[in-house]
Amino acid sequence: MVKPIWYTLLLLFLSATTAQPVPPVDAEASISRFQNYLRIKTAHPHPDYSTAVSFLDSLAKSIPNLHTRTLYPATPDKPLLLVTFPGSNPSLQSILLNSHIDSVPAEPSKWSHPPFSAVRTDDGNIFARGAQDDKCIAIQYLEAIRNIILTDPHFTPIRTVHISYVPDEEIGGLHGMAKFVESKEFKQLNVGFFLDEGQASTTDQYRVFYADRSPWNLVIKAVGMPGHGSRMFDNSAMENLMKSVEVVSKFRENQFDLVKAGVLANSEVISANLVYLKAGIPSGDGNFAMNMQPSEAEAGYDVRLPPTVDPDLLKKRIGEEWAPATRNMSYDIVEKGPLRDYMGRPLMTATNDSNPWWSVFKDAIKACGGELSKPEILSSTTDARYLRQLGIPTFGFSPMKNTPILLHDHNEYLKDSTFLEGIKIYESIIKSLSSFE
Ligand SMILES: *[C@@H]1O[C@H](CO)[C@@H](O)[C@H](O)[C@H]1NC(C)=O
Ligand SMILES: *[C@@H]1O[C@H](CO)[C@@H](O)[C@H](O)[C@H]1NC(C)=O
Ligand SMILES: [Zn+2]
Repeated sequence: MVKPIWYTLLLLFLSATTAQPVPPVDAEASISRFQNYLRIKTAHPHPDYSTAVSFLDSLAKSIPNLHTRTLYPATPDKPLLLVTFPGSNPSLQSILLNSHIDSVPAEPSKWSHPPFSAVRTDDGNIFARGAQDDKCIAIQYLEAIRNIILTDPHFTPIRTVHISYVPDEEIGGLHGMAKFVESKEFKQLNVGFFLDEGQASTTDQYRVFYADRSPWNLVIKAVGMPGHGSRMFDNSAMENLMKSVEVVSKFRENQFDLVKAGVLANSEVISANLVYLKAGIPSGDGNFAMNMQPSEAEAGYDVRLPPTVDPDLLKKRIGEEWAPATRNMSYDIVEKGPLRDYMGRPLMTATNDSNPWWSVFKDAIKACGGELSKPEILSSTTDARYLRQLGIPTFGFSPMKNTPILLHDHNEYLKDSTFLEGIKIYESIIKSLSSFE
């Protein structure tokens, strides 16, 4: 049936005079943008940063009111994308949301779907390296702002909200976040609160992290009299080293017992895991001389310190008990990152009333029906430490509940509905944080 002309005119009149209906949020489009980002190969050792940055840049530019800048904190091959949602009161401190662009490598033969295909199965699981760590939050931040503007075109944040997409987190951040926080561009952001990646939760509650453990690479070395393999004598390098290995093993056992007894969480104790042993006189054919006791021996440990531990006390223990000079032992510690902030305080963000951001963050999650579990220390390390070092309140948070923890694992995936729930959570968080005066 051909509609009469007056009908068309009426429609035109109505559409010009009545408020525009709010277009529906397109969840399927959000999911395909997530899949497209997952398909960009940003795994080490050759992360494709330039494709990822141009993808995120055009995604941000497709959202009204967002501005972008590409920075190069260290070298021209390691870009950092900064997205800005300007607030109405630039004199207030800003909010910075962070996601790292890179991911760890994947072994395709061990995966049920190719790790860069972002296959979505019938039950909604999206398989890809980075699906949990942490490309989900990269897209969720932008989709949340897109939805906020879509559903409330007049919403203007009071505080400015920035999103940083940084390189190299998985390899320590030395050419990424560590350099960025030292730049004048960073200082100009005047950041008051920082939100970084967290981890999946296997329960119905979201997890939040207020500190990271700090890694130390510890090498202990022993020297001693060399000798024929047939001789029995005291104080060989091997004997000296093995005495230390026993002492460290005992310490490790005591710490682990606290975890097993439920007294402390894994991330609340000091871990000291033996990662290599090195000694022996090479015989030239790839083996070792069996009739020689070597004059040097060493052991390497991955040591992780919770922020509650006094690093000087642990160093004293290492010097006196783990590698005593009286037993001809020496040691070397490489600290992989800061342990204390610029005021000498432990790198922890308060989760009580002394930190006003905590209440705003917590209430924003409650407001959209979410629940938080008891704040935790992260067992491993993220870029968050560089912000805590500046004394900036920082939480680690990735909204993935009822989800197996698959970061760095084979078959990493995230369920589509979990991804979409996370966007809702960030809509609430971003609105609340940016409206907090
Ligand atoms: C330490 O080394 C010195 C010099 O080689 C040696 O005389 C001494 O017995 C060694 N002590 C121990 C405990 O290994
Ligand atoms: C809040 O927590 C911090 C760090 O955990 C602690 O030092 C401080 O005493 C607490 N303040 C209050 C008011 O409970
Ligand atoms: Zn990560």
